[in-house]
Amino acid sequence: MLNFSFQNPTRIHFGEGKIAAISQEIPLDARVLLVYGGGSIKGNGVYQQVSDALTEHTWFEFSGIEPNPTYDTLMKAQEIIKAENIDYLLAVGGGSVVDGAKFIAAAALYEGEGGDPWDILVKQQAVTKALPIGAVLTLPATGSESNGNSVVTRDEYKLPFSSPLVRPLFAVLDPIVTLSLSERQISNGVVDAFVHTIEQYLTYSVNGKVQDRFSEGLLQTLIEEGPKALLSDTKDDLDVRSNIMWSATMALNGLIGAGVPQDWSTHMIGHELTGAFGIDHARTLSIVLPAVMKVRKEQKREKLLQYAARVWQVTDGDDNARIDQAIRLTEEFFKKMQVPTRLSHVDLGSKDIDLLIERLEQHGMTALGENDDITLAISREILTKAL
Ligand code: NZQ
Ligand code: ZN
Repeated sequence: MLNFSFQNPTRIHFGEGKIAAISQEIPLDARVLLVYGGGSIKGNGVYQQVSDALTEHTWFEFSGIEPNPTYDTLMKAQEIIKAENIDYLLAVGGGSVVDGAKFIAAAALYEGEGGDPWDILVKQQAVTKALPIGAVLTLPATGSESNGNSVVTRDEYKLPFSSPLVRPLFAVLDPIVTLSLSERQISNGVVDAFVHTIEQYLTYSVNGKVQDRFSEGLLQTLIEEGPKALLSDTKDDLDVRSNIMWSATMALNGLIGAGVPQDWSTHMIGHELTGAFGIDHARTLSIVLPAVMKVRKEQKREKLLQYAARVWQVTDGDDNARIDQAIRLTEEFFKKMQVPTRLSHVDLGSKDIDLLIERLEQHGMTALGENDDITLAISREILTKAL
């Protein structure tokens, strides 16, 4: 196992009615900015529950954070933060809203050279201060509610930043609020959480047994419960929703990735597909991951065999046959989750690969993967395999 330091201070309030807990979590003297997206929280009662919990607080609101939150929208929040002396952010929504709140929180107090918050993303300038954040999660997927990561889009750039200072202090996870999600958003969430787990698991072995077993448990939970959230008989089952929600949080709260190598090539290539063609984040992952598994079969051999045996119970046949079967089963799982597994499924073809490679180069994504050895040529091979 590799050395690591691990701390996850986000307090989780899980279950029905837990939105009320925010009234205790946010100091009464705070000046709160509620940030949210396009308005789904007004249709499913979440906004009302949040307002009810904040009756004793002084609060303002900023809405319109779009999926794949944009720099321009997020910078608009700075006006109200200054005008109203906001000192606490409450993000209510999916990963985009939580990620957006993180950038707003860091930009509000940014003091780097030149004072331009864009540098946090484009120059990876360190965040040294940020407003405190609380989160009410409405879409289980990203793990953003209890991690320090954020991804922000500006023009064709989709860039991540990370800081422990933007990790939410608390997060409310009430599975009931996920009942209003569309099938597409449920699928996206399950697939994103699945691929987060894979990015931290399917590398090379360092004998991290705890991390491996945790990861295999998350993968199996998502394989079992994900499809149920799309079937009419089981889609409103709160146990199904709870298991999906908790898996998604656990998949990217730092626990399973501590002390093990991490890949993230599927995500970095996927970000370019979103940046260039506007494809939903999770749908880029379901297209890229099977191709990464195929192209990196040799480098990932030991873990692919472990994945085949422990996650899919594939134990018959020689090594290659077992690996191929595990990759096939992964693709079948994605199909069951109704997400694309090939570039052609989203109307892209070989003519589009040049642009993606150009963008990867522009964004410095020239040495990806757990060994930093996925060059642009190998990314091209991966995208070609995904056609
Ligand atoms: O904007 P509203 O009206 O709220 O609608 C949203 C949005 O249209 C809707 N929605 C959310 N909760 C709902 C709901 N609709 C009905 N009922 C509910 N309960 O769903 C739509 C998509 O929301 P979004 O927040 O964009 O989805 P997701 O949670 O998948 O977040 C995606 C973003 O997170 C980034 C992605 O790149 C993308 O920008 N990621 C963040 C990560 C992190 N912070 O660690 C890691 C991930 O790999 C990922 O990159
Ligand atoms: Zn993701």
